[in-house]
Amino acid sequence: MAKYPFRSALVTGASSGIGAEMARLLGEAGVPTVLVARRGERLREIKDRYDDFEVLEADLGTADGQAATAERIASDDAPVDLVVNNAGFGTSGVFHELDVERLAGEVELNVKALTVLSHAALTAMVPRGRGYLLNVSSVASFQASPGLGVYAATKAYVTSLTEALHSEVKSSGVHVTALCPGLTKTEFQDHSNTSGLASRVPDLAWTSVGQVASTGLSDVASNRTISVPGVLYKTAVTFSDIMPRSLTRWVSGTVTR
Ligand SMILES: NC(=O)c1ccc[n+]([C@@H]2O[C@H](COP(=O)([O-])OP(=O)(O)OC[C@H]3O[C@@H](n4cnc5c(N)ncnc54)[C@H](OP(=O)(O)O)[C@@H]3O)[C@@H](O)[C@H]2O)c1
Repeated sequence: MAKYPFRSALVTGASSGIGAEMARLLGEAGVPTVLVARRGERLREIKDRYDDFEVLEADLGTADGQAATAERIASDDAPVDLVVNNAGFGTSGVFHELDVERLAGEVELNVKALTVLSHAALTAMVPRGRGYLLNVSSVASFQASPGLGVYAATKAYVTSLTEALHSEVKSSGVHVTALCPGLTKTEFQDHSNTSGLASRVPDLAWTSVGQVASTGLSDVASNRTISVPGVLYKTAVTFSDIMPRSLTRWVSGTVTR
């Protein structure tokens, strides 16, 4: 069983996939955790398995849901030591053919909610001189992705913001990390309409949800700036840094379309 330095945690998007696996790892390690998502029934099933778990049913695509979660993060009575901004979704397709309201909702969740909650987290943690902020981005953040354009752009924002925050609070004792997973089998493929793509991708290109969740938690514990689970994706990210942008765009578009 992993040992973590976190005294307590709050995980958004804890009702499935990477967030649910992080909640499981935190529960096994005895870390009291607040579970945030819209599907309260699923959160209550997870809560019932562990001591000191709490459910916060919130739609982070709304200002009210963001405010309720920020308020919980700001609590002095029950301080949150680790905040994981994990809730997010994508939309596959050609930009101008997609529903613009859905794309705006994607920006609201992936960008705005994450910004509001990162702000609440650091406002509470920096004066305490300790704390952990883990923002879930993607390997898609390192290049433009034709066919998944808005998603990759929202994740480029997440990686860039998180790197900046890591540097800003470095001397405060607060750890800030961007978790950048590659393909991971979760409900993401159904919700982002990428199940067709998923069926074409060979097994070796998939990272397990367990590996992604445990790498993210251990990398924020050790204050890595950017966490990329798996050798394949670590190598891909290194190459995307040195390849011409036209080539990374072409490779990415070939995978996502
Ligand atoms: N799977 C991959 O291949 C992959 C790769 C790179 C990065 N990621 C990133 O990893 C993160 C987790 O995704 P996943 O793969 O675990 O997908 P997932 O299984 O679909 O989980 C997404 C989570 O986000 C929550 N969520 C969605 N909309 C929400 C809203 N409006 N308010 C509150 N919670 C909301 C969902 O809960 P409710 O529906 O109950 O609200 C769910 O718990 C995302 O940020 C995603 O972009 C995934």
